[in-house]
Amino acid sequence: MGIMREILLHGSRSRWLADQLTQREFTRRAVARFMPGEEMSAALDASESLRQKGMTTILTLLGENVTELEEADAVAQHYLGVLERVSELKLDTDISTKPTHLGLDLGFDQTLQRYRTLVQRASELGRLVAIDMEDSSYVDRTIELFRQLRADHDNVVLCLQAYLYRTTSDLVTLLPLSPGIRLVKGAYNEPRNIAYRRKADVDESFLRLTNSLLDELVGNGGQAFFGTHDPRMISAVRQRAEKAGLPKDAYEFQMLYGIRRDAQAQLAADGYRVRVLISYGNAWFPWFMRRLAERPANLTFLARNLLRG
Ligand code: FDA
Repeated sequence: MGIMREILLHGSRSRWLADQLTQREFTRRAVARFMPGEEMSAALDASESLRQKGMTTILTLLGENVTELEEADAVAQHYLGVLERVSELKLDTDISTKPTHLGLDLGFDQTLQRYRTLVQRASELGRLVAIDMEDSSYVDRTIELFRQLRADHDNVVLCLQAYLYRTTSDLVTLLPLSPGIRLVKGAYNEPRNIAYRRKADVDESFLRLTNSLLDELVGNGGQAFFGTHDPRMISAVRQRAEKAGLPKDAYEFQMLYGIRRDAQAQLAADGYRVRVLISYGNAWFPWFMRRLAERPANLTFLARNLLRG
């Protein structure tokens, strides 16, 4: 892992740095590249614009590791409101949620209950609820949340991270559930005894897992979502799917708002399913630092905004 990535991921957990940077106008201007606004309405407007370009969306309210039960309840309420609004506007928009935003640090059972309410309502409205994967200390509990929800509902999606060694065997144990899986490389700072740290190794793992998803999941009742901006990964997914005789709409590419917009539009124009994940809310600091860590070249972008005053 590059030293800059390590510094940025370390910084993402610093409250002091968050206090310093979130006040600054130049940071806010740089953040605007990755999110259409802090309000839900901005994310819905962006969904409508993307719809006109042939793309669908996922909304996520920024935030993680809540420390009060009331906060977790409010987050669940917020997402229920999003589902209603999406339905009123007739948008093809799902939601993506972090377990610690819904209270996982405060207790498993209540978090599961909040998820049950959300997944039930989403099911009635024909929408999916995705469960993000956070750092490795949450993986067991996140998979257990998914298992329990999947027992009653098929509109729930689990994110798995290719950088973790364990993901290969996690996927094997999950396949019999015909799950919905979003495969990503992984965005946290994990030690080498549990995770690949070289990009080449993470990429290899992503490709192996892609093959399993396309060969063993799609076509057997499960759904595969590929959360990546990497042109190499995207073209490997396409080639493998073609080889397996899968139509373009048998799986989905997912990318983050503002990242490789050209590639998003091109894939959609080529007939692939493209869903853009739009983040909003005011708790954007750790999330923004993870985006910078993915591509430290984005720091020049921050610097340019700094120079603009
Ligand atoms: P990689 O980081 O190798 O980048 C490949 C290329 O993509 C770069 O060369 C550049 O061209 C472009 N690119 C990538 N990131 C960029 C950026 N920030 N700015 C500009 N260009 C960029 N992670 C996690 O741990 N848990 C989760 O739940 C999720 N959920 C999730 C959902 C969705 C829809 C997406 C797209 C991603 C996630 N992630 C995630 C993040 C994921 O783990 C990963 O960190 C990023 O997707 C970056 O990895 P890439 O596969 O894009 O490749």
